[in-house]
Order: sequence, then structure tokens, then C-alpha cells
Amino acid sequence: MDKGVPMDLVTVLLFALACSLAFASDPNPLQDFCVATKDSNEFVNGKFCNNPKDAKADDFFFSGLDKPGDTSNKQGSNVTAVNVDKLAGLNTLGISVARIDFAPYGLNPPHTHPRATEIIVVLEGTLYVGFVTSNTNNRLFTKVLKKGDVFVFPIGLIHFQWNMKIPMLLYLPLLAAKILG
Ligand SMILES: *[C@@H]1O[C@H](CO)[C@@H](O)[C@H](O)[C@H]1NC(C)=O
Repeated sequence: MDKGVPMDLVTVLLFALACSLAFASDPNPLQDFCVATKDSNEFVNGKFCNNPKDAKADDFFFSGLDKPGDTSNKQGSNVTAVNVDKLAGLNTLGISVARIDFAPYGLNPPHTHPRATEIIVVLEGTLYVGFVTSNTNNRLFTKVLKKGDVFVFPIGLIHFQWNMKIPMLLYLPLLAAKILG
């Protein structure tokens, strides 16, 4: 339940958009926040909460998305995820963020997030993206994205991203789930 991609923030505008998507996929929390405890090995629908009286600003903070991931691997891409394991305050909020770096012609291969809508913004380069609708139509939607472009992958649908042209490229996906699964 903790394998995920999510992370930190891009802009207030994008975050607000992602939040609205989050409400569509995860139930609203029953409290202001539920900072994840690291002290329990129990499996629940999310992680147990720390006592809210112990919460501090750093529970809602992550630093380091400015650092590129190492793309010298077979797929030529690297996902830096900020999920509940790295940002305990994300627990139960239904939102996360990630950075993905691509080598030239690097690929983030087809995959799905059954419980998350993903919205991306391209910060550099040219990205070929696509998703396939569910049975029985299996329609393929593709688009070439450039710097500043935004694209959304609807919840549960198989999708991919490919760096089709320019050397280094990165984008920031925002996921409407605290955990990618
Ligand atoms: C992604 O980049 C990080 C930071 O450079 C590195 O530690 C990690 O091994 C890389 N992952 C892959 C799959 O290449």
C-alpha cells in the first residue's frame, strides 16, 4: 500500500486542480490531517495517525524535488516520488506528486494507477504521451507535449510517456491519491 509515486508541489494553481481531482477518487478525510505514524506495522486503509497535538510544520514538508533522478538505466527514466513514506502529512489526503526525468528517448512504460488520476506538466523537452480506454472500445489517445503543456490521465487507464526528441526532459505528475498503486 505504500508503493507510490507522489511528492511535493508545483504551483498553487496546479495543486488546487489536483486537489479537486483527489476528491473524486478518495473519500474525504474525517479530520484536518492524519500525519502517518512510523510506529505501526498494522495494515489499514491508509496509515495510522500520530496524535494531532504532536504535529509540526515539517510533517507537511518535503525538500529535494529540484534534484534530477539518475536516468542511466534500461528504460532511460527515473521517477522521484514524494509519497506518504516521504511526506507523512500526505496520509489520507488523496494527493501526491512526483518528478520524472528522462534520458534521450527514455520511456516511462505503459502502466496504470487503479486509484489515481494523474495530471502532468512538462517543464522541459518534448514528451509523447498516451492512454487507452477500457474495454470494449480500447481507444488510444495520444498527444505531443512541449514545455508548459498539461495533460491528464484519467483514473485507472493504462498510460505511458516517451521522451521523443530532446536530451533531458522532466515533468511533474500530480496524483489524486496519496499512493500510486
Ligand atoms: C533514480 O535516481 C536516484 C537518484 O540519482 C537513484 O538513487 C536511483 O537508483 C535511480 N533509480 C533508477 C531506477 O535508476
